[in-house]
Amino acid sequence: MCNHQKEGLKDPCKNEYLLRDGQRLIVRNPKIGDEQGLINHMKAVDSETKFLAREPGEFSFTLEQEREFIKSCINNENIFFLVGEIGGKIIANCSVGIVMNNKRYLHRAAMGIAVRKDYWHRGIGKRMMEECIKWCREKGVEQLELEVVTQNNRAISMYKSIGFQIQGTKKHALKYRDGSYADEYLMILFLNDINAN
Ligand SMILES: CC(C)(COP(=O)(O)OP(=O)(O)OC[C@H]1O[C@@H](n2cnc3c(N)ncnc32)[C@H](O)[C@@H]1OP(=O)(O)O)[C@@H](O)C(=O)NCCC(=O)NCCS
Repeated sequence: MCNHQKEGLKDPCKNEYLLRDGQRLIVRNPKIGDEQGLINHMKAVDSETKFLAREPGEFSFTLEQEREFIKSCINNENIFFLVGEIGGKIIANCSVGIVMNNKRYLHRAAMGIAVRKDYWHRGIGKRMMEECIKWCREKGVEQLELEVVTQNNRAISMYKSIGFQIQGTKKHALKYRDGSYADEYLMILFLNDINAN
């Protein structure tokens, strides 16, 4: 747990990992000044996979909008936003948030993740997810949820290896530019075993 969280404050969290290829990965909350790096990252991941929510080129945040977004995450106790950085470059993002602030929904959180293709399969995705799960546990979240395209085998095997279970399928969740569709699985990780039954 980061010290600031022990004290109930929302200050930046930062951890460093040595990857299996010897590179140093920094996992931290984004800060003001990351706007351009984050915009570059979001645009790049959208063009590297068809499994994310946007078409290539659709991400259109300006520097000002990205700055406001970072600030809103810093100031929101119910959102935990992480970036992965290697050699000063943002190469991954992972975020988790309580699904709704109504009391009846405070036990549920939802998450999303994207790692730059050049950095896949080095343990980065799993490390970032583990930090999000830690945040959920500290927050008292009971179930962590996500939606994943049914053909996204890499992501699905990562989620299953962490303990997520497929709970249902949403037909035609995405419609691509060419008119084709993709279905999505709803996957849930139950953080308290009692809830799994
Ligand atoms: C899915 C994604 C986040 C995985 O990140 P990653 O950094 O490559 O994942 P990791 O290296 O930490 O691997 C974690 C697990 O994924 C699985 N995995 C990784 N590469 C795999 C492959 N080629 N085939 C099958 N499973 C694979 C394994 O279970 C692995 O665990 P292990 O290393 O203990 O065997 C990344 O591929 C990505 O960003 N994809 C594009 C965006 C996306 O699909 N996001 C998810 C939307 S729901």
